Amino acid sequence: MAYEPDDIPVNPSSNQRFEEVLAARLSRRRVLQHGLGAAALSFLAGRAGLLAPPALAQSRLLGFTPVPVSTADMVIVPSGYTVDVVYAWGDPISNGPAWKPDASNSAADQEQQAGMHHDGMHFFPIPAGSSSSTHGLLVVNHEYTDDGLLHPGGMETWSAAKVAKSMAAHGVSVIEISLVNGKWTIVRPSRYARRITAKTPMILSGPAAGHPWLRTSGDPSGRLALGTASNCAHGFTPWGTYLTCEENFNGYFVNASGLVPALQKRYGISDKGFGYRWHEHETRFDAAAHPNEPNRFGWVVEIDPWDARSQPIKRTALGRIKHEGAKVELAVDGRAVVYMGDDERFEYIYKFVSRDRYRPADRAANLQLLDEGTLYGARCNADGAGEWLELSQGKNGLDAAAGFPSQAEVLINARGAADRVGATPMDRPEWIAVHPVTKEAFCSLTNNTRRGEQGAPAPDAANPRGPNVYGHIIRWRDQGKDPGAARFDWDILALAGDPANPDPAKRGNIKGDMFGSPDGLWVDPRGVLWIEMDVSTSTLNKGDYARMGNNAMLAADPSTGEVRRFLVGPNGCEITGIIATADGKNLFINIQHPGETASERTDPAKPTGVSQWPDGGRPRSATIVIRKSDGGVIGT
Ligand code: FEO
Ligand code: CA
Ligand code: CA
Repeated sequence: MAYEPDDIPVNPSSNQRFEEVLAARLSRRRVLQHGLGAAALSFLAGRAGLLAPPALAQSRLLGFTPVPVSTADMVIVPSGYTVDVVYAWGDPISNGPAWKPDASNSAADQEQQAGMHHDGMHFFPIPAGSSSSTHGLLVVNHEYTDDGLLHPGGMETWSAAKVAKSMAAHGVSVIEISLVNGKWTIVRPSRYARRITAKTPMILSGPAAGHPWLRTSGDPSGRLALGTASNCAHGFTPWGTYLTCEENFNGYFVNASGLVPALQKRYGISDKGFGYRWHEHETRFDAAAHPNEPNRFGWVVEIDPWDARSQPIKRTALGRIKHEGAKVELAVDGRAVVYMGDDERFEYIYKFVSRDRYRPADRAANLQLLDEGTLYGARCNADGAGEWLELSQGKNGLDAAAGFPSQAEVLINARGAADRVGATPMDRPEWIAVHPVTKEAFCSLTNNTRRGEQGAPAPDAANPRGPNVYGHIIRWRDQGKDPGAARFDWDILALAGDPANPDPAKRGNIKGDMFGSPDGLWVDPRGVLWIEMDVSTSTLNKGDYARMGNNAMLAADPSTGEVRRFLVGPNGCEITGIIATADGKNLFINIQHPGETASERTDPAKPTGVSQWPDGGRPRSATIVIRKSDGGVIGT
């Protein structure tokens, strides 16, 4: 997401415990004694010993010539590669209304067209379960809207119709695509095509469903929610479903009562919101009048893309946080494991382990797996050991006296539960990726300029820089390479930075091309770690980021640490969403919010901002596909 606003409150409860402060200070002293860079890294590798020594051996995985930084309004890829736009905001999902370049499509049109601001995404081959690399379903998140672009006249003359269109531009797309004569095209009509929006009815399931905190005047049952929003990163399951993750949901709510309840405050709900102005016409987003409506957002939502009539399901067992993504693995014994980050300063990394086992031949049973299980928060100890701390009512201090009389309160207030058990506050956990063979998990910690500020947590072993301007990538491996294990070893893969930054603490230790604010991560089947940048609009090309150009995507070899810049996006965009076809020859990524400017929301007279990508007019978020001219595997 583009908004990384300074008005997002830091986790207010993460800076209280004396022993944490002490531990953090000790860690900091040791880091500083060693200096940052390779020495600090070897200290941080510590007990885990996962990290390869800073060998300079050239990667055998990375075969392309890196591209330089760029501020051009275009997508730049290495020579020998091509880029095509597959699915841009406003494109009809099936036989539907055509995109109008002046943005005059109605809300009803928008419900049949690509939403705005593509984010997490997955490709499901057709037939289901096959490895087809020429035909499949593309499922795409539409994280948020820039209403300055979405409507003629932007946010002037704000109306119910504009709110309806904004809500219709959120959510998820399911489209069918196929490769014909070297070009990916949308199959129209398609029986799979659907849009899920901020108004689509969906089920609340799992231990918190029906709890009084989920009941509203519109839904006294607490089991039927309307819509999904702030759909950031994603996940997908071995049983062929898609997980869309609700991140910055707080920004849609406004509580102007002057008395924001503690639970709302803990999740960042304020008297202003982020300026979407939905509450003016869709009153459930008035968090003073409808105090439980925010509790119905912040979940992982499971979607069956194979049945366009199926109802999405909000899985409360996975906890309510500002979900970045949901990376699904299988434990050695077959239970489903979901790794998840909560993207806010000083928030936590989580893991869910299902009670029951995945059964390859029983899809109906698998569709229930995410309703029963155990949620954990991660603690990264300074010596490189880590623990998954159980977030279960009755354990680890999660009792009625602490505000957790049942598991429902633990899940609805998962942040509060993780505070209570002593999880490690991190520098904004974004995507999590897992190496298919080594089972190492990687998480981008995008940045945290408040780390080390007075009154905020000091640097610690897992978050060693304060302020953390450029972010870093942490990795861990659950014991025995078993994602179901209760303990893990961790280290830091890379501290991002600019090697020419005058401040030694900001130079980082990247071996290869510089990057900052890592966000999207994916390990492809060959073992390449793809890193997508999301430097916020307020920082892009300025100050510490002046030399880094537009947001980029890089490829890393986790075994050697080498990093090469593979792609640079157009002006003002973020790079996100990433998945390839099974043959590795078609890499889909998303260009989100091209042309975003800091003034966009307040200056609707300038809808084109700093970009006219991809087609010379109003900038449009879009899915692109990257192919190799010689038909080879991407990255080789
Ligand atoms: Fe939607 Fe944290 O990115
Ligand atoms: Ca993100
Ligand atoms: Ca981000």
